[in-house]
Amino acid sequence: MDNGSMMTEERLMDEAKGVLHNAYSPYSGIKVGAALLTSSGNIHTGVNVENASYGLTICAERNVIPTAITQGMKKIKFLVVTGGTPEPISPCGACRQVISEFSDDETIIILANKDRKYNIWSVNDLLPYSFGPKHL
Ligand code: THU
Repeated sequence: MDNGSMMTEERLMDEAKGVLHNAYSPYSGIKVGAALLTSSGNIHTGVNVENASYGLTICAERNVIPTAITQGMKKIKFLVVTGGTPEPISPCGACRQVISEFSDDETIIILANKDRKYNIWSVNDLLPYSFGPKHL
């Protein structure tokens, strides 16, 4: 990654960590924060929001993406997901599919733990041989 990307990564990591405390997860106890940078330069954040009817839980990723779309996002340039977890968080299958809808080969996805231990992925790493708009 070049220096510009490093700065973006740090900024988004700060944003994702900054909203972690707002996660609503009384049932699992797992807090997740997501921050993304759009192709037009805007930053959005989201957290996981659980529900007493467990299946209605919304993951942080599927919270931030609709927010960003509402504000006009076309593509995700950079996505950071931080879990309040010992190891870097791993998005569920549903989130991988939703991330892929708004990503391309340039999209950088960083999955981190609460102490900024992280790894870097492309959307194809997370969801190879995906179903997408090209199949419709
Ligand atoms: N969760 C996320 O928000 N994002 C992930 O990448 C993995 C899991 C949430 C959903 C639920 O509130 C809790 O973590 C445990 O599954």
